[in-house]
Amino acid sequence: MKKPKIFIACDTTSPNVIKKIISHTKTNKLNIGYKFGLEFFCSKDGRKFISKLKNKEIFLDLKLNDIPNTCASAIHSLRDLKNISYLTVHINGGYEMLKTIKKASKKINKKLKILGVTVLTSFSNSSIKKIGHTKSIKDLVKKQAVLAKSAKLDGIVCSGYEVKLLKKICKRMDIVAPGIRLKGDSADDQKRVVTPKDAFKNGATAIVMGRSITKGNIKNNIQKLIKSL
Ligand code: C5P
Repeated sequence: MKKPKIFIACDTTSPNVIKKIISHTKTNKLNIGYKFGLEFFCSKDGRKFISKLKNKEIFLDLKLNDIPNTCASAIHSLRDLKNISYLTVHINGGYEMLKTIKKASKKINKKLKILGVTVLTSFSNSSIKKIGHTKSIKDLVKKQAVLAKSAKLDGIVCSGYEVKLLKKICKRMDIVAPGIRLKGDSADDQKRVVTPKDAFKNGATAIVMGRSITKGNIKNNIQKLIKSL
């Protein structure tokens, strides 16, 4: 059986904290990768640290969203980072941006997978109304998934609730679910939260876990995660 794929969200500016996260999440029961977002990538030592990481699956969560030319240039600027496996972009950027990003990514690294972010897991139906959307999250993510597929992205990012809904549209694509909490953990700022087990049951090909693993005793949290699956 395939090992469950977990990306640990390394949300910190400290390389030492990341070294600790990496050493405390070693296990042969899970397929673990590490996700770096803007917090670490923009920090003084972040980019260099990432460039030197070897033999780790690296997920760069930059959530690009700009005009096509600017996004293509940003991708070009990442060309020295040959060790990145996944990069995120906002599907909201539209078809032209997505196509341009995919094309640019092929030029710098044929193996780099581009994942399209649907509606952030920190949004609820009432909060998306406030930014002008008239559709429900369910309808919106379906439209976004169709767009991501038509632009030939490699996968999408959505909450564990929507995975089931998008599985048919995103056949053979990666479906990565953040907003994951172990039973009893606080949801914090996340609104659409599911357990690791439910996310996989719904069809996620990988999950992203931050605070449920990195807060408190990391080794214990990893054991709790393994048991819960
Ligand atoms: O600590 P927590 O598990 O909530 O962290 C979730 C991580 O996943 C964060 O790094 C966040 O930026 C990222 N993420 C998300 N929702 C998305 C896409 C990415 O929470 N839709």
